Amino acid sequence: MKDTFYITTAIDYANDKPHIGHAYEKVLTDVIARFQKARGKDVFFLTGTDEHGEKVFKAAKKKGEDPQKFVDDLSERFRNLCTILSVENDDFIRTTHSRHEEANKKIVKAMHEKGDIYKGEYEGWYCVPCESYWTDKQLDEGKCPECNREVEKKKEEGYFFRLSKYEEDLLELYDQKPDFVFPESRKKELLNRIEDGLRDLCITRSAFEWGVPFPIDDDYTTYVWVDALSNYITALGYPEGDKFNKYWPANVHMIGKDITWFHAVIWPAMLMSLGVDLPETVCAHGFLNLGGEKMSKSKGNVLDPFELVEAYGTDALRYSLLSGGSIGEDSDFSEELLVKKLNNELADNLGNFVHRTLSFLNSNFGGGIPEREEFTESDEELVEETRRTVDEAGKDLEELSLNTALEKVMALSKKGNQYLNANEPWKNEGRAPNVLNVCGNLCKNISIILFPFLPDCAEKIWEQLGIDESIRSKEWGDAKDFELSDHEIGEPEPLFKKRDIQTRKKEEPNMIEFRDFQKLDLRAAKVKNVEEVEGADKLFKISLDVGSLGERTVAAGLKPYLDKEDLKGKTVAYLANLEPKEMYGMKSEGMVLAGEKNGTVKLVECDIEPGARIH
Ligand code: MSP
Repeated sequence: MKDTFYITTAIDYANDKPHIGHAYEKVLTDVIARFQKARGKDVFFLTGTDEHGEKVFKAAKKKGEDPQKFVDDLSERFRNLCTILSVENDDFIRTTHSRHEEANKKIVKAMHEKGDIYKGEYEGWYCVPCESYWTDKQLDEGKCPECNREVEKKKEEGYFFRLSKYEEDLLELYDQKPDFVFPESRKKELLNRIEDGLRDLCITRSAFEWGVPFPIDDDYTTYVWVDALSNYITALGYPEGDKFNKYWPANVHMIGKDITWFHAVIWPAMLMSLGVDLPETVCAHGFLNLGGEKMSKSKGNVLDPFELVEAYGTDALRYSLLSGGSIGEDSDFSEELLVKKLNNELADNLGNFVHRTLSFLNSNFGGGIPEREEFTESDEELVEETRRTVDEAGKDLEELSLNTALEKVMALSKKGNQYLNANEPWKNEGRAPNVLNVCGNLCKNISIILFPFLPDCAEKIWEQLGIDESIRSKEWGDAKDFELSDHEIGEPEPLFKKRDIQTRKKEEPNMIEFRDFQKLDLRAAKVKNVEEVEGADKLFKISLDVGSLGERTVAAGLKPYLDKEDLKGKTVAYLANLEPKEMYGMKSEGMVLAGEKNGTVKLVECDIEPGARIH
């Protein structure tokens, strides 16, 4: 078995901003990548954007933008999507980049040299949104059988790929490698479609400039799917790159069910033509439906992952996406569902267990996990169950059963809560050390299996548990078997805040509620003294007279803009109830307010008695 693991997502069309379906696919893939890393594999995780083709070109034109600029902007958004989702991809491929274009040309040339590309005439129906060709027979009442939209009649000379030549080999592949297409139901659909016979595929577009130039004939560009599919090897530096030799063949191509045909028929046929090994598994995940309906712009039910992360955080979004159901099936998603899961499952179950445990350790054991004494049967039972669960969740993850693994994490934390309730360490001093040893270690083990799913949350648990790199970097199994005993923990803090969907809906962007403004304690303060701060280029240490609040000291980044002498004696606006912060050996208590325009900075002065409130 190779010790590398190569996993990819589909590359997203740069024709519109990312939606929740894109987020779903990236998160699914990230879970598997993180899990394989935790298992000790050398993982390479690729994602990116698909930037050519008629669909993208038309979208740019509609906006009156230059296509390259248009895709540059959108590609950046997809890259940001990975960041806000804590998706840890190793590379981001763009099909308009020369590293891809040049390698793609080599691929087409190699297929041509193999005798698999010929010139002919094409007549058929083209669906722009799917960038797919269809025959009369395949149309569904005259519309695209995939998305049910209008199709265009096309008749043109072009170049063809001998897909039909690979029909037998493909059928043999499905037969010999039962895991090639996952889940099974998708494979059946393919077989039904192949039954009608595979037709050669037109792989060029004439007189259409937004694409990779077709390397055999300047009058054409390469069909966008032949361009896009090749990203999985161009990103690795095919044909000669070290990464290609190291990581290919891919272990998993994660894609949505709508593009299974391209990945499980056209792509392996292209690879067969190139004489390159085939990927292990094409995993076709189901679609996210919104409130029971297909997501579509016209229905106005497209959810924006950026807004959801901003409102509820990355963990809540990842959790709600991942707990929807089995990967191969469609699952329902809505903001209401997200909030319900955040409140009932993350906050009430997981957050509650971890916080109860750590707070109890903090207040009763001086912030440490006690050494264990003789375990009772119920202690042993939970410890055993935890071990078993870590192993079983690992098996689920190997088998791409992400949701059942996640259910197991949540079930463990529920067990932890029940165990605490049953053993009542707050009443039973004799039992307390063992119970807290078990629960502290349970928090650690939960965080290990949680990490691929909710990496930010797991890291918070590690922080609060006081687990350092040496334990964090242990492999999945070793970390589980490592026991925390007589171990000092960090500062406990709630992991999740409960949320109310209505509040977000009422909120206008950049608006705060009046009661939030009222929380600010703004005061007039007189500058008594200004000093430099050793080791800090930009800071002044300012002593303030804040009337009845007494004397305060703040560190302010004003040194590049103002002279010490200009500040002394002025009465300025001062925020008095900002959490104090240690900086450069001093305690900064609050903030003086200043305004800036074109690099000129002035303090907000006021002619009010020091200490008076500013309303
Ligand atoms: N550009 C092609 C893929 C080329 S891969 C060589 C494409 N792009 S896409 O932007 O339309 O879709 C990107 C991925 O998101 C696909 O795997 C697609 O199935 C997935 N999803 C699109 N809508 C989705 C949902 N509503 N739910 C879940 N996944 C969805 O296809």
